[in-house]
Amino acid sequence: MENSKTSKTEAKPKKASAKKSDVAGDLRELFVDSLKDIYWAEKALTKALPKMANKATTAKLIEGLEHHLTETEEQVKRLEEVFSIIDVKARAKKCEAMEGLIKEAKSIMKATAKGPVRDAGIIAAAQKVEHYEIATYGTLVAFAKTLGEDAAAELLAQTLAEEKTADETLSEAAYNDINFEASEEEEQDK
Ligand SMILES: [Fe+2]
Ligand SMILES: [Fe+2]
Repeated sequence: MENSKTSKTEAKPKKASAKKSDVAGDLRELFVDSLKDIYWAEKALTKALPKMANKATTAKLIEGLEHHLTETEEQVKRLEEVFSIIDVKARAKKCEAMEGLIKEAKSIMKATAKGPVRDAGIIAAAQKVEHYEIATYGTLVAFAKTLGEDAAAELLAQTLAEEKTADETLSEAAYNDINFEASEEEEQDK
């Protein structure tokens, strides 16, 4: 029974010894899967962003949303380039998270009247979208680099930078441009 004391350490199960190549293959699969996911999300955003711009009032916000729509259309094409670089057919796979965020944006717009409060709601919803995209592209850049797909990583990093700028623009619109006071005065004038 002398063994029983040492068996604790000896019995420690060895980590599943997946071969390095298997891990790389699996990471590649996860990378491709995530690309399909964000491809769906970006396409969905090309439809959602104009609706948000339509419902907004603050000029800077409308401008920001419209500018980011143009960028988003480019981002869709950029993803198609990434697919082509890694030699995978560009295919979209429904992104449940983005579907939920867009749904949330719609319900905020439905629940508020046109004006500063709706604008604040649109900004809140749009920033959640940007944050999701920032997280996703940050991961995708890291995956691409790990897989040695440097050209793909560079393209994805371009989009990541655009998403960060879009987020900052929305913050500025929220803190500097929405005119809550004017609408309060209007209320009092009524
Ligand atoms: Fe995007
Ligand atoms: Fe974005």
